[in-house]
Amino acid sequence: MKTPSTPLTSLTIIRPDDWHLHLRDGELMAAVLPFTARVFGRAVVMPNLRPPVTTAAAAAAYYDRILDVMHPDIDFTPLMTLYLTDTTTPAEIERAYRGGYVVAAKLYPAGATTNSDEGLTDLKRAQPVFEALAAHGLPLLVHGEVTDPEVDIFDREAVFLERYLAPLLDAIPALKVVLEHVTTRQGVDFVLAGPDRLAATITAHHLLLNRGAMFQGGLNPHAYCLPVLKREEHRQALLRAATGGSPKFFLGTDSAPHVRSTKETGCGCAGIFSAPTALASYAAAFEQAGALDRLEGFASLHGPAFYGLAPNRDAITLTRCPCPVPPSVSAGEAGELVPLAAGRTLAWSVECPTRGLIHEG
Ligand code: DOR
Ligand code: ZN
Repeated sequence: MKTPSTPLTSLTIIRPDDWHLHLRDGELMAAVLPFTARVFGRAVVMPNLRPPVTTAAAAAAYYDRILDVMHPDIDFTPLMTLYLTDTTTPAEIERAYRGGYVVAAKLYPAGATTNSDEGLTDLKRAQPVFEALAAHGLPLLVHGEVTDPEVDIFDREAVFLERYLAPLLDAIPALKVVLEHVTTRQGVDFVLAGPDRLAATITAHHLLLNRGAMFQGGLNPHAYCLPVLKREEHRQALLRAATGGSPKFFLGTDSAPHVRSTKETGCGCAGIFSAPTALASYAAAFEQAGALDRLEGFASLHGPAFYGLAPNRDAITLTRCPCPVPPSVSAGEAGELVPLAAGRTLAWSVECPTRGLIHEG
């Protein structure tokens, strides 16, 4: 990879989108939404609420609740998803498609992650639902990990690809699939070798951290997410994928806020809250790879192309200006949140003519 001899002092790119985001609901949503909406034009909003967003009507109601807490001057579009359960019907997919808010459906293998208990227990039984998605051109967003307790947690993604994803792609040749938050070399290779209708999102934290981060200076619950951080060799494979220019890889933060008291406890929740520092973190990763010139494709162009949408029409500027990240941000009565890179200083700040300078939201 080439490294420019004089480091860039600013970088202007088409406004990016976040193709994988947890916004939560209620007070927590009101606290976290501004961090995303000030930077990203659109975000694919995950449906793993309690109860999950399983119907077109629930997705429309959630969309309204998001807009209700949006600052009126900010132009941000939530792209809604449907949570697939064993009882989801093709008719519900049809309703979601016709409703116009829902852009994709999410496959959580039951028990794989936070609020996934109502996810799918048998992919074969869901074939008619997958057919309906394919018929409407709606992508299936996949949490690609097996839940089999016999399989080591670090191998769950690789085993899922062979056991479930390859047969699924073969069974439904028109189905568009996104392997969400890919974390392994095997995942990257699988996506690259697959058809054009197969893509993957990559998080900033999986690009910047390896599994050592969970144990650095003691046990760090703020580096715990699912799929869990992997070995350095996998982080390197993700960096190559993200910065390699392939349209199959695009930005999805998987920003997943959990208040401090539910992270720093005996059985802490999985999830890294990256929304406040996401774009600056991706820039750090791309700079590390000497590939800042590829950030725009990954962050702003590949995602819309895969979803059949136009790129955003405005731009955003990253400025090389030390950006101190606060140790925590307030989520009001809900508690406080510890963001990715808390207490550290990032090299890039995000500036935007209409939305102000983002240091800490
Ligand atoms: O770390 C994670 N947190 N991974 C997921 O798949 C879900 C997410 C959450 O909702 O907290
Ligand atoms: Zn997620």
